[in-house]
Amino acid sequence: MRSADIRQAFLNFFAQHGHTVVPTSPLVPDNDPTLLFTNAGMVPFKDVFLGRDPRPYVRATSAQRCVRAGGKHNDLDNVGYTARHHTFFEMLGNFSFGDYFKRDAIRYAWTFLTETLGLPAEKLWVTVHTSDDEAERIWKDEVGVNPERFSKLDEDNFWQMGDTGPCGPSSEIFFDHGPGVWGGPPGSAEEDGDRYIEIWNLVFMQYDRDAEGTLHELPKPSIDTGMGLERVAAVLQGVHSNYEIDLFQNLLKAAAKATGYDDLQAPSLCVIADHIRSCAFLVADGVMPSNEGRGYVLRRIIRRAVRHGHKLGAVDPFFHTLVAALDAEMGDAYPELRRAREQIERILLKEEQQFSRTLEHGMGLLNAALDELSGDVLPGDTVFKLYDTYGFPFDLTADVCRERGVAPDEAGFQRELEAQRERARAASQFGADYTAAVDIDGETTFTGYEQLTDEARIVALVDAEGNDLAELDADQKGIVVLDRTPFYGESGGQVGDTGYLYVDGGRFQVTDTQKQGGHHLHQGVMLEGRLVVGAEARPEVDAGLRTATVRNHSATHLLHKALRLVLGDHVQQKGSLVTAERLRFDFSHFEPMTSAQLAEVERLVNEQVLVNAPTVVEEMTLDEARDKGAAALFEAKYADSVRVLTIGADDFSIELCGGTHVARSGDIGSFHIVSEAGIASGVRRIEAITGEAALAWFHEQEACVQRLGERLKAKPEQVEAKVEALLERNRTLEKELEQAKGKLASAAGSDMLGRTREVAGVKLLATELDGVSGKELRGMLDQLKNKLGSGVIVLGAADKSAGKVSLIAGVTKDLTDRVKAGDLVNHVASQVGGKGGGRPDMAQAGGSQPEALPEALDSVPAWLDNTLS
Ligand code: ALA
Repeated sequence: MRSADIRQAFLNFFAQHGHTVVPTSPLVPDNDPTLLFTNAGMVPFKDVFLGRDPRPYVRATSAQRCVRAGGKHNDLDNVGYTARHHTFFEMLGNFSFGDYFKRDAIRYAWTFLTETLGLPAEKLWVTVHTSDDEAERIWKDEVGVNPERFSKLDEDNFWQMGDTGPCGPSSEIFFDHGPGVWGGPPGSAEEDGDRYIEIWNLVFMQYDRDAEGTLHELPKPSIDTGMGLERVAAVLQGVHSNYEIDLFQNLLKAAAKATGYDDLQAPSLCVIADHIRSCAFLVADGVMPSNEGRGYVLRRIIRRAVRHGHKLGAVDPFFHTLVAALDAEMGDAYPELRRAREQIERILLKEEQQFSRTLEHGMGLLNAALDELSGDVLPGDTVFKLYDTYGFPFDLTADVCRERGVAPDEAGFQRELEAQRERARAASQFGADYTAAVDIDGETTFTGYEQLTDEARIVALVDAEGNDLAELDADQKGIVVLDRTPFYGESGGQVGDTGYLYVDGGRFQVTDTQKQGGHHLHQGVMLEGRLVVGAEARPEVDAGLRTATVRNHSATHLLHKALRLVLGDHVQQKGSLVTAERLRFDFSHFEPMTSAQLAEVERLVNEQVLVNAPTVVEEMTLDEARDKGAAALFEAKYADSVRVLTIGADDFSIELCGGTHVARSGDIGSFHIVSEAGIASGVRRIEAITGEAALAWFHEQEACVQRLGERLKAKPEQVEAKVEALLERNRTLEKELEQAKGKLASAAGSDMLGRTREVAGVKLLATELDGVSGKELRGMLDQLKNKLGSGVIVLGAADKSAGKVSLIAGVTKDLTDRVKAGDLVNHVASQVGGKGGGRPDMAQAGGSQPEALPEALDSVPAWLDNTLS
């Protein structure tokens, strides 16, 4: 039985037993940020089991595409090394939502296996949970399974989708590949052998596990089953490895052809055949290769496949060419794959090309390192170099190492990775123009939390190239370091302050402030006078810009909290930028926000603005901050003592932050979200404004409505109704215009009858029409035929500016055995650079030489005369 036939037989069987066949869901689960990919048939039904998503059916069946790579269920490392691990597979399942329970689930499964598929009962083995006497009784007494081929197990017979969610005891059915294959029955010491293979898992869904691990009864006991299509196909096709089934044989052949390697047993070919399925379906379901989240899992799988192809000798990009073979195997069952085929090919090709540029060099380095290795652990710095310079994902290096019996040092790799992140963080703190380090001891005392001016001493001066200076003259650009300053140095997403440094008889304009080590670097230009190291200076922050920045920063904290309240606790800050003009906040979330969610977030923030609660700033230890429930920036590093900001009423937002903030939430004034968009897979970005910018925005909107009102001669509140009325009027006018045109054409048609002449006793109308489109010709022809009663008609419409001719010919039924409309239209069309076709009574054509139309029509009487004689 072919895989496709098994899939269909399964769905048919359950459809006959009252199950609704539910179309398969995408690999990226809808609305479930806890899950990387759909990894079981029940995933799309999770909320149905929990009683939160009522459906019009209580029985369902599906063939669900699943990916188990990355995340909780990760089979990626095993693919290519075992006979039945896949990154992608299909799960056939039947589901009952509070309808039937154990008895029917067991009977259906047994009937399908032994009768529909014809598997011998003596080849099957059944297990149930140790506590499940009911299922045991059904199997033994009602179905009659051989007690010798039955066992009760503990953990293996309890299935749960994840740490939380629906779960319950299960019953598994195994196929015995016979004594020729090593292995023992489930529960025996030899169970890991390949002889007994699980083919079907029947889960008796009874509980919902909460975050504390407590089990709650589901609203109604339900059924979730899962049968691996590839495994069953192997059984039915009498083969032992999944890769020997029909579907994979064709993919393996295609992979062999594409890589130029023809030993179909080669593990690398299996890897490629497996990986093309997950990669193609992931792209079809909207995942793009990237450096994080789902996109990085996809990238890792693609690169692993490309590396195996390279190992087999493939020189040119080959992976994307396999999409055609996959389409041939699976495109009928999965039209979404077929539809996306070109796009998948394009994306895979691009990714392959990109990786190919570094693959060869990386493999050279890796092989040399492995050749020289004395122990059996590849050092972390080599693994990191391969990752950083050559784009080798960790598991790709691990895969190569495994072939050579070596293990990569994962902890060492992680350390290198962290060190690099640290370097990147440090580097990003330098302004673009001043990359040189300022090498001085001590630190600047920051006084800007409390005040915007200060009295300070100049500690150092540095020019734009990084050279130490004793003084800075008018028009010179440079960096000024003070012993104390109210200027905030860019950090934590908040931009650096701007303003002026005043000295006796002189002024330095600060265009940016950066932090380096313990110092604040005031960057800018000397407007007048001179700065001298050691002299007194009076720093003065631009208060307007600082106040606006502060509003945006505090609003960012409120926004963060509001997003978690509205979208859920999976929302994590991924980055932020706070300037005087606006705030930008990047966060993890898997789908665009709805306008209702955006409105609710905006409302929650403004609610906190209006309560006008005082901001509380506290210093405490990191542990104390954690106990207080403070949100800490992902990956950020903190000193022993941290600064904790509480903004809003009732501890609305508690965050660790070194930035400057409003004294009371009301200082924010007003908060408005201007945009929400995706910036990377699983990461969204909100841009928002506060204070004066928000006011200006509202004023601009209002002014726009005012202007519209003036144009429409309506009050602002009437604009909407007025526009609606205008649109309606426009629709009516369009309709009337259409009708008027039709009438005109019909009148023109009557006029045209006057141009009819007779040729050999047959009425002929051959004429050119002005300003008529090809579509309208059709209607006119029918009218003219009716009016003429009997005759031959050919109409031409020329559009000189577009260089186009439309032609139509008609012959009344009584004359079609003497004159064919197709011949007539072609006679004319051939003279205007075109060709046509149609029925004997009606034919149409186009042409490209409008200027030749009059002469072509003039030639019709002679042609007709000739045809009739
Ligand atoms: N949900 C069950 C499984 O994945 C059927 O095995």
